[in-house]
Amino acid sequence: MDSICKTDKHEEVSEYYGAILEKSADLKTNACCTVKYYPENIQKGLAMIHDEVVEKYYGCGLTIPDDLKGLRVLDLGSGSGRDCYLVSYLVGEQGSVVGIDMTDEQLAVANRHINYHSEKFGYTSPNVEFKKGLIEKLDEVGLEDNSFDVAISNCVINLCPDKPAALREIFRVLKSGGQFYFSDVYSDQPVPEHLVDDPILYGECLSGALSESNFIQMAIDAGFRQPKEIERSVITIDNDEVSQKIGDLKFHSITYSVFKD
Ligand SMILES: C[S@@+](CC[C@H](N)C(=O)[O-])C[C@H]1O[C@@H](n2cnc3c(N)ncnc32)[C@H](O)[C@@H]1O
Repeated sequence: MDSICKTDKHEEVSEYYGAILEKSADLKTNACCTVKYYPENIQKGLAMIHDEVVEKYYGCGLTIPDDLKGLRVLDLGSGSGRDCYLVSYLVGEQGSVVGIDMTDEQLAVANRHINYHSEKFGYTSPNVEFKKGLIEKLDEVGLEDNSFDVAISNCVINLCPDKPAALREIFRVLKSGGQFYFSDVYSDQPVPEHLVDDPILYGECLSGALSESNFIQMAIDAGFRQPKEIERSVITIDNDEVSQKIGDLKFHSITYSVFKD
């Protein structure tokens, strides 16, 4: 799809990830470094991923559930494709991965390295594809009801202006028994509206964050079972200006698993 109908907030976020940030180290928080330990199979997969893809990784957790072999997986807000390529390796040649993102620059990096990774993993043809689209409107990218075993997402739902719509769409495209396993940023209390309007705080995945209780209720309203927390870590802010603006608010990166009955 060449053109998608973005809101001003979507445009602001695309600008942040497409033009302002160049690499993970440009982030003003430790979000991309909160994972302290990667299991051995994941380390092995990560070691095979192209440097350019890794340099533009902006995730905040480990979004890889166990036993992905042979499954069809959807990555929401796939960015430069790090998690898609990791999953491409873990699902094996019989499985498949679709990455959705709205930012051209991120999609260009991801698309550039499709053949590199399928050759690296020893596949006869690629099992991953990237599509341009909005998470809130997966129907417009042609994603069908009940068509994925697993959905993942790494530090993206906080950036969606319409979070209930995003969760409803993820629920719709998952098969019955399907799992949404994702890492995101959560605040310890609702974020004041004037901070939501700040493009840097929003782009940095802070001021669009839900509180945990808001997220849990929203997931249940979308049709999911009670979310289960897998892991959490504190987000630290490495920038004085950002620290001052957020005042007493505290942020965590949390990985949740939620199932569709
Ligand atoms: C913080 S980055 C994370 C990228 C990737 N998951 C990673 O771990 O490197 C957020 C990404 O989500 C994309 N994104 C944010 N909101 C989106 C939306 N509503 N629909 C589609 N993509 C979105 C952005 O374009 C950006 O590439």
